[in-house]
Amino acid sequence: MSTLKESEFVGSLDCGTTSTRFIIFDKHANIIAQSQEEFPQYYPNPGWHEHDATEIQEMCDKVIAQAVASLEEAGYNRSSVKVIGVTNQRETTVVWSRKTGKPLSRAVVWDDSRTRGVVAHYEHLLKTQGIEVNGQVRIGTDGALALKELTGLPLSTYFSAIKLRWMIDNWEDVRKAHDADDLAFGTVESWIAYNLLGGVSTGQHISEVTNASRTLLLNIRTLQWDPVLLRFFGFRESVLPRLVSTSEVYGNIPHGPLKGVPLGGLVGDQQGALVGNKCLAQGQAKCTYGTGAFLLFCTGTDIVYSNHGLLSTVAYQVGPQGKTVYALEGAIAVAGSAIKWLRDSMGIIKSANEINTLAGSVSSTSGVYFVTAFSGLLAPYWDPGATGLLVGLTSYTTPAHVARATLEANAFQTRAVIDSMVLDANSDLAHLKVDGGMTNGDLAMQVLADVGGFEVVRPEMRESTALGSALLAGSAIGLFGWDITRPETLQEVNTAGSTYFQPNTSEEERNEAWRGWQRAVERSRGWIE
Ligand code: G3P
Repeated sequence: MSTLKESEFVGSLDCGTTSTRFIIFDKHANIIAQSQEEFPQYYPNPGWHEHDATEIQEMCDKVIAQAVASLEEAGYNRSSVKVIGVTNQRETTVVWSRKTGKPLSRAVVWDDSRTRGVVAHYEHLLKTQGIEVNGQVRIGTDGALALKELTGLPLSTYFSAIKLRWMIDNWEDVRKAHDADDLAFGTVESWIAYNLLGGVSTGQHISEVTNASRTLLLNIRTLQWDPVLLRFFGFRESVLPRLVSTSEVYGNIPHGPLKGVPLGGLVGDQQGALVGNKCLAQGQAKCTYGTGAFLLFCTGTDIVYSNHGLLSTVAYQVGPQGKTVYALEGAIAVAGSAIKWLRDSMGIIKSANEINTLAGSVSSTSGVYFVTAFSGLLAPYWDPGATGLLVGLTSYTTPAHVARATLEANAFQTRAVIDSMVLDANSDLAHLKVDGGMTNGDLAMQVLADVGGFEVVRPEMRESTALGSALLAGSAIGLFGWDITRPETLQEVNTAGSTYFQPNTSEEERNEAWRGWQRAVERSRGWIE
C-alpha cells in the first residue's frame, strides 16, 4: 500500500442555490480535489421555491466525503486539510426544532415571492403606525428610511424576516414551535454550521454577520440583532442565533472524514466572491453570475446608503473584534436561472452552454426584449408585482433571438445596477470583474461588454466564491500567512491570468438598445397587483 503524503490545504464548502460542492485548495488556490452534487428544487406553486434542509445537509456530507476520497486518490492524507470554510446562498430561511435538531418545514428560498402580502402588510404598518426607534415613532416614508438606516435594506420578499413571518403565520408546526420557544431560525450557513459542529448534541446555533445582514433583523452599524426590528416583525428573541464574525474558529468538526478539523470561515456566497476576487478595499467591485447575478462594490468601513435602489450590506468582519467592512450591492434575481428555464421548461437548448451557440447564430435580437422577472424585479427596480415578459416578437422571431435576448437581459440588468452604483458611490467603474457559471460563455461576456459599454475582466480561475471562504478560513488560523486584513499576504493566491472583453458598440447603439430595455421593463411592472 502506498503511503499518503502530508501537506497543507484548505477546504471550502459552497452551498449554492442549486448545488453543493466541496473544493480543496492549496496555498496558491490550485484546486487539489473537488466534488459537486445538485440537489432537488421544489416549486409547489407559481412564485414559490423551496428546499429540503435535510437534503442540503446530506449533500454537504456527500460532497465532503467524495472530495476527501479524491484527495486520497491524488496521494494526500486527509489530515492535510487544516481548516475549512463555508459559503452559502443567502436569505434562504431554515427553521428547526431546538429539541430534535430537525427542520420544522421546508426552507423558503431567497427568490421565492409568495410573501408579497407580508411585504404589503409591513408597508401599510409603516404608513399607519410607523416604527419606534429610540423612543421616536417614524412613520410613512420616514419609517421606510428608518428601516433602511437600521438594516441597509428595503422591505422586500427577498429578505429572511419576511419569509420567517410567513412561515410562522402559515405553517402550524412552525407557529407552535415559535410559541413554545422551540424554534431555531437560521440562514443556510447557520444550519450548515449547526450540523457540521455536531447537530442537536453539540451543534451551536450561530449566524455569521454577512448572512445576518440579509435578514432585516440585524443593525448593520452595531452588528447586533436589533430589538426594534424584532418587535416590528413580532419574533421572540429565542429564535435568534448567536452572531459570529466572518473569520474565526467556531469549533472543530466532531465526526466524519474531516474529524477534528476546525471550521474557520462562514460567509454569504456573494461576499465570499468579493473576498475571493480580492476586492477587499474601497472602490473594488465584482459581479457573480450564478442562479441570480450579484454586483458588490466595496465601500470600506463606511456604510454608503443608496438613493438608487441598491442595498447596503456587510462585506466581511475578520474576528469578533474586527472592523466591519461594507459593500453596496445590486441583486438581480434571475441570471443563470433564465438559461436553466430555456433548457428545462422551454426545451430551446439542451445544455446551458448551448445558449452561446444558439444566440451567436444571429447578430442581434431583431427587436426582441426579454424581461426575466420570474420572481418580480430586485435591484434597482424593487417590484414584486413584475412578471417575466417577452416583447417585440414578430413572425420573424426564432429561438435564437430569444436566446440572445436572454443574454442581453442579463447585461441590461447589470448596466442598470452599475448606473445606480456610479451615482451612489460617485465614482466611475473602470472595469467589471466577473465570475460564476454564466461567465464561461464568451458570447455572454461580449454581449455584457457591448450592452454595458464597459470592459469585462474574466479571471482564469473563477471559483471565487469558494476561494473567498477558503481565504477567510485560512486567515482564521494564520494558514500560509494569510491575513484578510492585510491583502499583501494574499499576493501569491490565484495569480493565473484574465481574459478581457471590450465593448464593440457605439454609444448611440447602446443608448438606443437601453431605451428599448427601459420600455420593456415598464411594461413588465405591476402585472401582479
Ligand atoms: O442572495 C442570493 C444569493 O446568495 C444566491 O447565490 O450563487 O446561489 O445564485 P447563487
